[in-house]
Amino acid sequence: MDKEQARQRIAELREEIHYHNYRYYVLDQPVISDAEYDRMFRQLEELEARFPDLITPDSPTQRVGAPPREELGTVVHRVPLLSLQSIYSEEEMRHFVETAIAEAGEEVTFVAEPKYDGLAVNLTYEGGILTVAATRGDGFTGEDITDNVRTIKTVPLKLLAEDGEPLPEVVEIRGEIYIPVAAFRELNRRREEAGEPLFANPRNAAAGSVRQLDSAITAARPLNIYVYGVGAVSGYEFSSEWEVLQTLRRWGFRVDECNVLCRSSAECLEFYHSLAQQREQLPYEIDGVVFKVNELAAQQKLGTRTRSPRWAVAYKFPARQETTRIRDIIVSVGRMGALTPVALLEPVQIGGAMVQRASLHNQDEIDRKDIRIGDTVIIERAGDVIPHVVKVVTERRTGAERKFRLPDTCPVCGTEVLRTEGDPIVHCPNIDCPAQLRGRIEHFASRRAMDIEGLGEKLVVQLVASNLVRHLPDIYDLTVPQLTCLERMGEKSAQNLLKALEASKQTTLARFLYALSIVHVGEYVARLLAEHFGALSAVEQASYDELVAIAGIGPEIANSILHFFSQERNRQIVRELLDKGIQIRQEEAAAATLAGKTFVFTGVLSSFTREEATAQVERRGGRVTSSVSSRTDYVVVGENPGSKYQRAQELGVTVIGEEEFRELIESS
Ligand code: IVH
Repeated sequence: MDKEQARQRIAELREEIHYHNYRYYVLDQPVISDAEYDRMFRQLEELEARFPDLITPDSPTQRVGAPPREELGTVVHRVPLLSLQSIYSEEEMRHFVETAIAEAGEEVTFVAEPKYDGLAVNLTYEGGILTVAATRGDGFTGEDITDNVRTIKTVPLKLLAEDGEPLPEVVEIRGEIYIPVAAFRELNRRREEAGEPLFANPRNAAAGSVRQLDSAITAARPLNIYVYGVGAVSGYEFSSEWEVLQTLRRWGFRVDECNVLCRSSAECLEFYHSLAQQREQLPYEIDGVVFKVNELAAQQKLGTRTRSPRWAVAYKFPARQETTRIRDIIVSVGRMGALTPVALLEPVQIGGAMVQRASLHNQDEIDRKDIRIGDTVIIERAGDVIPHVVKVVTERRTGAERKFRLPDTCPVCGTEVLRTEGDPIVHCPNIDCPAQLRGRIEHFASRRAMDIEGLGEKLVVQLVASNLVRHLPDIYDLTVPQLTCLERMGEKSAQNLLKALEASKQTTLARFLYALSIVHVGEYVARLLAEHFGALSAVEQASYDELVAIAGIGPEIANSILHFFSQERNRQIVRELLDKGIQIRQEEAAAATLAGKTFVFTGVLSSFTREEATAQVERRGGRVTSSVSSRTDYVVVGENPGSKYQRAQELGVTVIGEEEFRELIESS
């Protein structure tokens, strides 16, 4: 690149970076991923390093952040809040440590801390009292957020001091305000319920909350703080960063327990990797590890650059977000028939893996985020989570983007899909849909359905791959010679499987209906249907009105059942299954085996809702009440039981778990 080209590229980069600074710092609405921003920034730094005479004072590289928002008052920091140089490799890490050791010319150690992904703040305490709180702003001047910060319970309004302990006349304390991940999810859930716009991530939520003009709003947000350093200090002496951290903790601040002191680059790297591993489990978001030379005298010797100190670095974790483009949207059909829209992306590296697809979940999600084919999007891949679209970069729309709608028919088998009011998931109801064959067989064979022992996931994969089973009823045509040709299948297991298949043919209507994996027909609904209709043909011919007349069956379930049996292919598969010799025992109406018995439920049951469990008891003549007394016969205890459990024990009432309850129901 010659100088003229460099000049042009530098101008472009500066303009872009200025704009993104404004989006990020002022509006809290970034439109590109941090990784993309970092790349632009590094490119600008590199070009300016090659052509130093092109550096101008207004270049973003010469500044720390973005200008403060005008509505909030401004505060001039006594000592500027510097930025940190980012590094991305072990080599750069070792280089940092070695340079620091060599240049300081004495024993140096390193403090390692998480790099919090929140909002930097500067808290000024005068005579031990919090007088001013400010955002970082451009590093020199920040926004006055004193009233807002005062609402954060973990920020001491007054420094704690033990008897006679001297406090500094003035001290600037630096830390990061953040919203814990769990609280962030809850906050967004409530905003969604209230129809309010969602925050893109905890950092934006924290920044938005702290920069409110009305501190009552801030007070209602789950903000928290970790502090990690000091700026201006008068009337007090520190000699190391570690001492600063211990002192801040004594003064009443939250200082992270996981900070450590390292003596070598090996120890620094070890901490980096262990934190990277814990990253997804931490209750707050971090995006790297900060390493600081511990001894303040050594820091003095190393000095600072324009934007950042030479005695500290931020070793960033691989980015989890990237910007890319949606080439197309396809529909995948899940094992149980759910249609999921999937974005095909221009491939990008995220966190060390190449990402080419992202789940768009369902049509509601696409509509809510207004995702279109051709859009530039921010993709996130966190931990083991399937990559998803964080947001669309609408600024990059050209007008050529196309809206997407899930089709009315299954892309694999062409069957008309089932849409359910209130459920964003669209299903293909075809029991014979090739995309679902494996899932449907596994469910059919499962213990609570047809209970075919030995027909599990692995074998199903083999049977389908070898074409021995092309349709569900084919499982009943399997022979010993066919099975023994499969890997890991001996004569004995083959015979056992055939026996299990044979035994499964004697079944109940409830099991058979459940085994068909009709959308919304779980075990409980299957039982209701069996008890009400008594015979399969009656269920097949039931009308909408007959179905919704059954307590426990609403319009959604009724529609799903009607839709299922309206498909000729489904009726045919059911006929074929019966032709293989499946015999459905006549269902007897539940006997009043629990007549006169009183039940109380407490805690969460895993396979029944409270309503279902209640209906089961009542159908057998029992009664369910809400409080425990000496007349209670059974207290059924689920997960996290309440005080009723204790009361039952005090009164000596029989306490049973979910399994025992199930047995009680099933034996009757
Ligand atoms: S020390 C001179 N320590 O990172 C050192 N900063 O790029 C100044 N940050 O905006 C910062 N966690 O908000 C330091 N443990 C930590 C940090 C941390 C997050 C942020 C800080 C600042 C940015 C610097």
